[in-house]
Amino acid sequence: MKILVTGGLGFIGSHTVVELLENGYEVVVIDALYNSSIDVVDKIKIITGKDFKLYVEDVCNKEKLDEIFSIEKPDAVIHFAAYKAVGESVSKPIMYYRNNLVSTLNLCEVMQKYGCNKFVFSSSATVYGDPEVLPITEECKVGGTTNPYGSTKLMNEMILRDINISNPEFSVVILRYFNPIGAHKSGLIGEKPNGIPNNLMPYIVRVATGELEILSIFGNDYPTHDGTGVRDYIHVVDLAKGHLKAIENMKSGVSYYNLGTGMGYSVLDMVKAFEKVNGVKVPYKIVDRRPGDIAECFADPSKAYKELGWKAEFGIEDMMRDSYNFILKCKEDK
Ligand code: UD1
Repeated sequence: MKILVTGGLGFIGSHTVVELLENGYEVVVIDALYNSSIDVVDKIKIITGKDFKLYVEDVCNKEKLDEIFSIEKPDAVIHFAAYKAVGESVSKPIMYYRNNLVSTLNLCEVMQKYGCNKFVFSSSATVYGDPEVLPITEECKVGGTTNPYGSTKLMNEMILRDINISNPEFSVVILRYFNPIGAHKSGLIGEKPNGIPNNLMPYIVRVATGELEILSIFGNDYPTHDGTGVRDYIHVVDLAKGHLKAIENMKSGVSYYNLGTGMGYSVLDMVKAFEKVNGVKVPYKIVDRRPGDIAECFADPSKAYKELGWKAEFGIEDMMRDSYNFILKCKEDK
């Protein structure tokens, strides 16, 4: 089976490509290298001992996409390629809406032209907004997104649902990720944000290595067990495996799955766990809340277990160890 992976050199994409190759799939990657590096190609080949085809192209270029489909004729598409920085999406909404929506529209149009009817979409728990109940099930209300990035995820879900209504043969799996962290155990691939990280884990590891001075914890007056924000952190390798399960168990229609562990950890829990596992101090200070943040968010992942046979295997200590191992390896390579 041949799978086209857009954004296959990015953080989640690269780990998914590894899993696909290791499980005997033929893989074609399209990546424009906007937020990823060409070095990842060799790293994936070292990890898997397998080869794959790469097109350095933008999915927003429909002519190129058509050409790639005419050559490759993939059986299924996993669509990761998107802009993902929340703060940047607020200052550049047009860029975010254009890129994150046009890419999906192009893909769907070209897929239908070539009779490719299996689509896996990279969505986010952000579509639930500020959840009314916890843990979050797939039945929970969506909407109330607080930034253009989050809105593009929700709009993509709506677009895909409408395409399925117009063409029931077009099957869609929407995977709503909670907070992906960690890295491949080899330390060869992981998360490498450009510039100063916005997300918690990339920030913690850079404070640990001394690249950044101190972690700012955004608020300690939330209604949580220690006042800091609670999230469901999930190892990126577990997340990657969820995509294989989605392909293997794809049903007709549109299916929605939460990919999380079901466990909520606070920011302070994360700092303590990191320090314990890696034996390194992470200095921090408490600052004001970050606008748009919610108090608590964790998944009920039981639907993915029941229907896809998927559940997260890695625990918080694995995530801490692998995130740090990756950044240490990056520093060695410099
Ligand atoms: C963020 C995005 C979300 C996106 C996800 C992708 C926002 C509001 N939401 O989720 O839409 O899908 O990333 O991974 O940005 N924290 C600190 N100090 C820091 C960084 C974070 O205290 O320097 C805290 C936050 O307040 C939060 C927790 O750590 O409580 C996790 O934050 P983060 O890693 O940015 O993820 P989310 O905000 O959950």
